[in-house]
Amino acid sequence: MSQLRDLLHSSAPVLALAPMQDVTDLAFMTLMARYGGPDIYWTEYLRVHTVSTPEKWVVQSIKENTTGRPIIAQMIGNDIPALIRTAKFLQTLPIAAIDLNLGCPAPVVYRKCAGGGLLREPKRVDALLGALREAVTIPFTVKTRLGFDSPAVFDELLPIFARHSLDLLTVHARTVLEMYRSEVHYDYIARAVAAMPCPVMANGNVYSAAKAAEVLRHTGARGLMIGRGAIRNPWLFTQIRQHQRGEPLFVPRGRDVLDYIRALYEAVTTPGIRESSQVQKMKKYLNYLGLAVDAEGQFLHQIRRVATREDFFRICEEFLGHDRPMSLEPFQLALKETDLLAGEHL
Ligand SMILES: Cc1cc2nc3c(=O)[nH]c(=O)nc-3n(C[C@H](O)[C@H](O)[C@H](O)COP(=O)(O)O)c2cc1C
Repeated sequence: MSQLRDLLHSSAPVLALAPMQDVTDLAFMTLMARYGGPDIYWTEYLRVHTVSTPEKWVVQSIKENTTGRPIIAQMIGNDIPALIRTAKFLQTLPIAAIDLNLGCPAPVVYRKCAGGGLLREPKRVDALLGALREAVTIPFTVKTRLGFDSPAVFDELLPIFARHSLDLLTVHARTVLEMYRSEVHYDYIARAVAAMPCPVMANGNVYSAAKAAEVLRHTGARGLMIGRGAIRNPWLFTQIRQHQRGEPLFVPRGRDVLDYIRALYEAVTTPGIRESSQVQKMKKYLNYLGLAVDAEGQFLHQIRRVATREDFFRICEEFLGHDRPMSLEPFQLALKETDLLAGEHL
């Protein structure tokens, strides 16, 4: 049996860390594992086109995976021979499955009719899945959104997904044009669970153990894929498991969150990188974490303006050097236009 099929046969809900470009690299996944971590990881997507070669750092995150948990390699693209060539190479690596991205909402991707752009062309999806299912001898999975500009196409997509013997379907229950901030249409995940012959994983806005339980109950999904909630709260997977077992939840204090930020800084430091670039890099993670620090958005406002390590940690200590419990659920901040530009994924 494969690692993925073993997991899907276990009794507990399967918990996955969502693939996230420039976030879920080897360092980040290794750090997540230290906090309890998910049951399974996904790589950032590998960009596949006629002359592409697999990105070295993504291949490294597979080869050097020491989390003790399986990892799935994700591809994005629409060129069938190139996808097959890449899938054949990936199958020589220690991966649990190959996943196809049918959801990326970045205009530079969807305009080329890849990622979420493919959802405008169900016939093309059908052809792609047919070719890949035939070429991939290990488990093959798909991560999709509900449609491009409307979820109406989802009813057309489901029979296509069902036809190709997928091993798992992950549904991020938004359309492509809804990007990351709209409500999540969990009803459509329940529809996928009812229609698909394979297990379905629910994705979108799972930020707490209580929300995880609610989404599982509402959708009947086999598991949960969690992205931004895990950047914000690395204890989230452990809390969900504790909630499932009826145990009291570990609730981090301000100082625990501060320690996490310090560990993240160490983990993602590239040797030789300038301090200002390292601080810039940290702001990317804190764009998510910052939403859970104070309701006024003061922490995020100040952290976005620092340039040195010293100022960065002075502000972190000012806001997080305390022993009060933190839920790490995001506040609905009234973000300014400039702040939104800084992070379309907020
Ligand atoms: C920074 C960032 C990068 C992402 N990169 C990818 C990616 O490479 N592949 C993919 O399928 N989804 C990607 N996503 C989407 C997430 O996997 C996930 O579907 C989405 O964030 C919703 O889940 P969440 O509410 O738990 O964050 C990305 C999301 C974010 C925030």
